[in-house]
Amino acid sequence: MRAEAVLSFFLILAPSLSGFPGFFSYLSAPSEEEVIGRLDEDVILPCSFKNGSEVVIHWKNQETHTIYSYFKGSDHLEKQDPRYTNRTSLFHAEIHNGNASLSIRILRLLDEGIYICYVGTASGKTTKKVVLKVGAFVTPVMKYEKRNMTSFLTCSVRSYPHPSITWQGDETPISESTLEEIESSGCFHIYSTVNITGSNSSYECAIENSLLKQTWTGQWTVKDGLHKMQSEHISLSCQPASNISLPNQNFRVTWSRVESGNSSILAYFLSSSRNTIINEPRFSWNKELINQSDFSLTLRDLRVSDSGEYLCNISSSNYTLLTIQTLHVEPSQKREIWKILLPVMILVIVIVVILVLLVFHKVPASRRFYRFCRAWDPVSTDENARNTENRVSHFLYQTISSIRMLP
Ligand SMILES: *[C@@H]1O[C@H](CO)[C@@H](O)[C@H](O)[C@H]1NC(C)=O
Ligand SMILES: *[C@@H]1O[C@H](CO)[C@@H](O)[C@H](O)[C@H]1NC(C)=O
Ligand SMILES: *[C@@H]1O[C@H](CO)[C@@H](O)[C@H](O)[C@H]1NC(C)=O
Ligand SMILES: *[C@@H]1O[C@H](CO)[C@@H](O)[C@H](O)[C@H]1NC(C)=O
Ligand SMILES: *[C@@H]1O[C@H](CO)[C@@H](O)[C@H](O)[C@H]1NC(C)=O
Ligand SMILES: *[C@@H]1O[C@H](CO)[C@@H](O)[C@H](O)[C@H]1NC(C)=O
Ligand SMILES: *[C@@H]1O[C@H](CO)[C@@H](O)[C@H](O)[C@H]1NC(C)=O
Ligand SMILES: *[C@@H]1O[C@H](CO)[C@@H](O)[C@H](O)[C@H]1NC(C)=O
Ligand SMILES: *[C@@H]1O[C@H](CO)[C@@H](O)[C@H](O)[C@H]1NC(C)=O
Ligand SMILES: *[C@@H]1O[C@H](CO)[C@@H](O)[C@H](O)[C@H]1NC(C)=O
Ligand SMILES: *[C@@H]1O[C@H](CO)[C@@H](O)[C@H](O)[C@H]1NC(C)=O
Repeated sequence: MRAEAVLSFFLILAPSLSGFPGFFSYLSAPSEEEVIGRLDEDVILPCSFKNGSEVVIHWKNQETHTIYSYFKGSDHLEKQDPRYTNRTSLFHAEIHNGNASLSIRILRLLDEGIYICYVGTASGKTTKKVVLKVGAFVTPVMKYEKRNMTSFLTCSVRSYPHPSITWQGDETPISESTLEEIESSGCFHIYSTVNITGSNSSYECAIENSLLKQTWTGQWTVKDGLHKMQSEHISLSCQPASNISLPNQNFRVTWSRVESGNSSILAYFLSSSRNTIINEPRFSWNKELINQSDFSLTLRDLRVSDSGEYLCNISSSNYTLLTIQTLHVEPSQKREIWKILLPVMILVIVIVVILVLLVFHKVPASRRFYRFCRAWDPVSTDENARNTENRVSHFLYQTISSIRMLP
């Protein structure tokens, strides 16, 4: 309380005192130091002192709970606040160099607060104040979903403190619906959703954690629909915005097909290994284009069943770009002709069969056989035909006679 009063007194006076350089160098000498740590990571709270004999180190927090005690050349942790059990240590090898810094492992949000370092030696005393702040920012994710004829985008993030989320549709601010949970760790888990309306062709969601000074941007754009004929080739385009520089960071590109509820990955590229993986042989990347950050994918021998939405996802730790490309594949002309020809051919065959049946029904056996042969031998002359007919009748007559003559 008193410290705050003194500080605000200085702040009010500061502008009028700016003429005194000595005064300012005194103010800027750090009486306290701010350290920003990240949830689940480790942190070092700095504390240095002038070396001397008989070193005694005590670290306490605001509520004067003991966090660490060191004297007579060893640790004394019997009175340690149990929240810090097994998570703290000094750098013993550094103590004689005047280093009393405290290491805290696997930070929790509850570790936030003021820490005070007291060091005494035979030659003097030192007190240092360290303000620890803990933040969390787990790489956000942008999801594109289609449900029940409505398309929407969701940006989700786990963050502490509460992040700011702003949406833009075609560069104008739009309103979102937000769902928030507070996890047991104290972290916020936020889902922010916008509906995709027909007229907007791009959306952007920007998320910022002010404590960690980390920002993340998710962009979504839809390309003009593509119309192609069956068995043609197509290039599905995917390029990051020109002002986003990818070469100096790790990123991952995935191409997938958007289906309701399911999206199957067709191909992906990892910048760290420059590795490309393709799950469908009709797809191919252009290696030279990849070198220029162009992740367009070529699809060969289009099929009608290839029609649908394709999603390209370029993601790094602070950027996601989703590009949607709709493909419509028309059946080719050849197929079209077959569609007309096939029923006609079936009709012709049916008529022929009916005619043949009618003829067979009305004509004696030998003539049926002749006509049958004739139907399959249209070049035979009438005379040949008659000869054939006679020969066939004769053969049949003889066969029947010989059967009759059997005992
Ligand atoms: C103390 O030593 C540790 C370990 O070497 C080092 O990381 C830290 O910066 C040192 N702190 C000071 C205040 O010298
Ligand atoms: C620090 O002080 C101790 C005790 O006086 C001495 O043994 C040690 O050499 C000193 N270390 C340095 C780096 O001066
Ligand atoms: C601290 O570590 C010791 C030894 O590794 C272990 O027996 C003990 O259960 C740990 N305590 C906590 C609170 O994790
Ligand atoms: C895009 O890729 C990132 C990283 O691989 C992943 O976390 C995210 O879920 C993907 N987004 C979509 C919409 O597929
Ligand atoms: C889809 O929309 C129809 C009417 O628009 C509604 O009856 C149905 O419950 C919706 N289904 C889901 C899963 O939202
Ligand atoms: C998005 O559309 C759904 C109905 O499809 C509606 O319930 C919801 O409020 C809309 N969200 C926004 C942010 O307009
Ligand atoms: C984009 O969508 C928002 C709300 O859905 C609407 O207010 C805005 O006018 C749309 N912008 C354009 C350019 O269509
Ligand atoms: C890229 O440019 C667009 C508009 O030209 C802008 O809105 C966006 O903030 C820029 N992104 C970065 C990372 O500079
Ligand atoms: C999603 O894909 C899996 C595996 O490819 C499949 O078993 C499942 O039936 C699919 N679900 C839907 C709704 O298409
Ligand atoms: C890709 O670019 C790098 C330098 O930017 C170059 O050395 C390499 O030869 C290029 N590879 C291809 C396949 O063009
Ligand atoms: C993302 O991080 C990289 C370094 O990791 C940086 O060069 C780049 O400017 C950042 N981009 C944005 C949009 O913040």
